Amino acid sequence: MSKQGFAGKSVLVTGAAGGIGRAAALAFAAAGARVAVVDVDAKGGEDTVAMIAQPGGEAFFVKTDVSQSAQVEAMVAAVVERWGRLDCAFNNAGIEIEHLPLADSDEATFDRVIGVNVKGVWLCMKHEIRQMLKQGGGTIVNTASVAGLVGAPLMPLYAASKHAVVGLTKTAAAEYGKAGIRVNSVCPGIIRTPMLERALEREPRREKSILKAHPIGRLGEAEEIANAAVWLCSDAASFVTGHQLAVDGGLTAI
Ligand SMILES: NC(=O)c1ccc[n+]([C@@H]2O[C@H](COP(=O)([O-])OP(=O)(O)OC[C@H]3O[C@@H](n4cnc5c(N)ncnc54)[C@H](O)[C@@H]3O)[C@@H](O)[C@H]2O)c1
Repeated sequence: MSKQGFAGKSVLVTGAAGGIGRAAALAFAAAGARVAVVDVDAKGGEDTVAMIAQPGGEAFFVKTDVSQSAQVEAMVAAVVERWGRLDCAFNNAGIEIEHLPLADSDEATFDRVIGVNVKGVWLCMKHEIRQMLKQGGGTIVNTASVAGLVGAPLMPLYAASKHAVVGLTKTAAAEYGKAGIRVNSVCPGIIRTPMLERALEREPRREKSILKAHPIGRLGEAEEIANAAVWLCSDAASFVTGHQLAVDGGLTAI
């Protein structure tokens, strides 16, 4: 990818030890950004940093559990201490859960998925926006899902968490637009990542129906979501805010 005006920009990516987050960290670095790689997985995070450093990029790892307030505050502080500002944040860390109908879902699972997928995104936005207000602007992209746009049978709690990400995105876009902060979501279809591999290991017979749900005739690649996140953060998307960008091979078109 060519440099899209990210030279010298400071970018934070959560869930960047693998999957979509790693692909995004690499894409931002390829576009010229300095990248803070955030995850609970230190080994995977350091590997992402090494992949950015190898061709001459600048990155460092910040071990953070996004569901923990003090850790998220420290994460933003670490980026600002290092680079003086935070231009863009891709709040992408999230977890999947076992497939079960709503009436069979349990309270512990509800608390766990809401804790990471909703509280995590809220905490990240809260501390990122405080910094962006101080410096006079910035851009934020959150990873929602097609399950944040339409219902997702057997995934009621995951769908609830991703609809909440959409609500946070739209509201923050409305609250901070005049302050120069743009906030959008990417809504991936089914993407080939370690998350999908784990799901298919549990239920291999689902692969056929998952594939059928995508009019484009294949599943997505992490890089295709990364490219959308980079574009939404770039000046090319300067009039785009409060938007939910489905990158889903047409899944929500039918
Ligand atoms: N893969 C898909 O098909 C798909 C579809 C739609 C949406 N998504 C969303 O995309 C995002 C990335 O998913 P992925 O497929 O790359 O998953 P993944 O499991 O491959 O990667 C997720 C990363 O987030 C990290 N993480 C988990 N909990 C964390 C926490 N509390 N704090 C910090 N880091 C944490 C993990 O260690 C991992 O590195 C998630 O929000 C997911 O819900 C994925």
